[in-house]
Parts: sequence; structure tokens; C-alpha cells
Amino acid sequence: MHPSDLLRNSLLQLSKMTMVRDVVEKAPVSRAVVRRFVPGAAIDDAVRATGQLAAVGRQVTIDYLGEDTTRLEQARHTKDAYLRLLAALAEKGYTDGGRAEVSLKLTALGLVLDDGRRIALEHAREICRAATNAGTTVTVDMEDHTTTDATLEVVRELREDFPSTGAVLQSYLRRTAGDCRDLAYAGSRIRLCKGAYQEPESVAYQSHDEVDKSYVRCLKILMAGQGYPMVASHDPRIVEIAAALAGKNGRDPKSFEYQMLFGIRPEEQQRIADRGDQMRVYLPFGDEWYGYLMRRMAERPANVAFFLRGLASKG
Ligand code: FDA
Repeated sequence: MHPSDLLRNSLLQLSKMTMVRDVVEKAPVSRAVVRRFVPGAAIDDAVRATGQLAAVGRQVTIDYLGEDTTRLEQARHTKDAYLRLLAALAEKGYTDGGRAEVSLKLTALGLVLDDGRRIALEHAREICRAATNAGTTVTVDMEDHTTTDATLEVVRELREDFPSTGAVLQSYLRRTAGDCRDLAYAGSRIRLCKGAYQEPESVAYQSHDEVDKSYVRCLKILMAGQGYPMVASHDPRIVEIAAALAGKNGRDPKSFEYQMLFGIRPEEQQRIADRGDQMRVYLPFGDEWYGYLMRRMAERPANVAFFLRGLASKG
């Protein structure tokens, strides 16, 4: 195995270890280092970052950090945090025209509890209702492959009442070209990403090359379809191919968007927004940043060095 794949797999394994999480999240030195990727823990931090990005023409989708919730009370707390967030965004006018929307994880809303599918659906429904009332949308993040079918089923049910609910598809999964074909219908908002979890070969492509090729195959389907593709990638080649496919399919710049994560390639984000394309930044906030941050490290060894340097200099 290539050393970078070994590092990636180790980090993804670590991302699931709650004991390590508890130590790292509570370490006083961690917070300053985390700030590059997570603007803060409080709703005010998310609202402030939204305002700063809106001022320079970038849109946002906000994620209240947390996943794999094992307590109903915690799932309710997450749902309530989204409702408070949406109210705070609406008060500032940021939700107008969907400039600020929210992204949520069904496992944070209770998917893995007993009767979890019903609980997560009910929580997501409440958030969708609040988002619709505020004039904006919700996108349901995709997690590991054991949740793909349940997640797509929940999105399908949410779309009956809230047709603008976004779904996420991951190009590393072998099934995804088929899902793209099924979901490329009018009004269907689909975020296409490469995928961030550790997945077995039986369900997922393992090499970067295969994942990238699958991404392009999937993007061709989405761009040629009737839906609204959301191109979630920092990969310069993917960004270039997306622009070419949009042109080839005669797409209006308002009929698709680019998405990148907060703190990653910010200059490129601005360049895309400045040239008149839609650029949406995925903005996570909250205390439970451990799993999120470990996945970012797994994507790019340079980020591990950044994290360790930060720990060493503050510790
Ligand atoms: P890739 O990782 O192949 O990197 C290509 C190039 O991009 C690098 O060479 C570098 O130049 C740059 N780059 C990439 N990552 C970087 C980093 N961390 N720091 C600095 N530079 C970096 N996943 C998932 O499983 N479910 C989901 O719901 C989502 N949601 C989501 C939303 C949005 C808006 C984004 C951008 C991403 C996701 N993801 C996700 C994560 C996604 O699956 C993937 O893991 C990351 O985006 C990294 O893949 P890239 O396509 O960026 O390319």
C-alpha cells in the first residue's frame, strides 16, 4: 500500500475512535488550530462567517457539527440548534434567495438510534419546514455506505413536501453513476463529491484515478440532465471539467454551482465567485469537530503537518 494511503486509512480509523476524540477535542491547544477549518463553536460565529463570505459574493451551506449520535436527547439538541441557526440567519436576511442554506447529517439527527429512520426523518422534516419558511433550502450530507440507501430514501420522502431538498452522491461508490441517472430530474439538487469515508473495495473504487474518472462520468450525467448539479470539489481538474461540461450543455451559470469547504483554497473560491459563477462554501460550526477534521487530514497530508505544527507551537 502507498504510504499516503496508509496514512489516510489510519486517520479515517482514528476518526471513529471516541476515546481519542474526547482527549483531542478537550485539549486546550486544539481550538486555535481548528479555527482554519471551523470558524467557531457558537451560532454567532457561523452567522458572522456567513456575513463575511456574503460580503464578497460567496454563498454558504452551514453544518452543525456532530455525527453518529447515540442519544435521543443529543439528536433533539442538534435539531434545535439548526432551528435557532435558521432563525438567526433569517433575521439578518442571509437566507433570502437561498444564499445561506444548511447541510445536515442524518446520523446526527438520530438515524442510528432504535427506530432511527423515523426519528431522523421527523427531525429533518422540522428543519426543512423552518428552512422553507426562511426562504432557503436543506442539503442532506451523505455518510458511509451503510447509510446510503436509508439516506436516499429519507431524501425522497422529504422531497414530497420540500422538493428543493438536496442530496449528496459520492463518486467513490460503484453505484453512483446509476444514482446520478435516477436523480438527474428537473428541480433535483445534487451535490457530487468524491467521498470522505473509509469504504471496502466491494462497494467503492480505491484508487484516486478510478474515483476521479467516476467523478467525471457522474458529472457528465448530472450536467446533461435536468437537475441542479452542485460540484463539490477542490480539485482544479474537476473544476475545469465542470466549466467545460456546463458550457457544452448550454447551462446558465444559475443552473449549477461550485462548492468548497471553509478554509480550503479560499483564493480559488473567490476567483470562481468573481468570474460570475455561483460559489457556495460549506461552513461547519460547533464543538464536535473531531470527525470532520480527521477526514480533512486524511484528504491531504499537508493538513496533518499544519495540525501538528499548531499543537507543537501552542503546547
Ligand atoms: P482531492 O482530495 O482529490 O484533492 C484534489 C486537490 O484539491 C488537491 O490536490 C489539493 O490541491 C486540493 N485539496 C483537496 N483537499 C484539500 C484539503 N483538505 N486541503 C487543501 N487542499 C485540498 N464527503 C462525503 O463523503 N459526504 C458529504 O456529504 C460531503 N460533503 C461535502 C461538501 C462539500 C461542499 C465539499 C467540498 C466536500 C464534501 N465532502 C463530502 C468531502 C469530499 O467527499 C472529499 O473528501 C473532499 O472534498 C476532498 O476531495 P476533492 O474533490 O476536493 O479532491
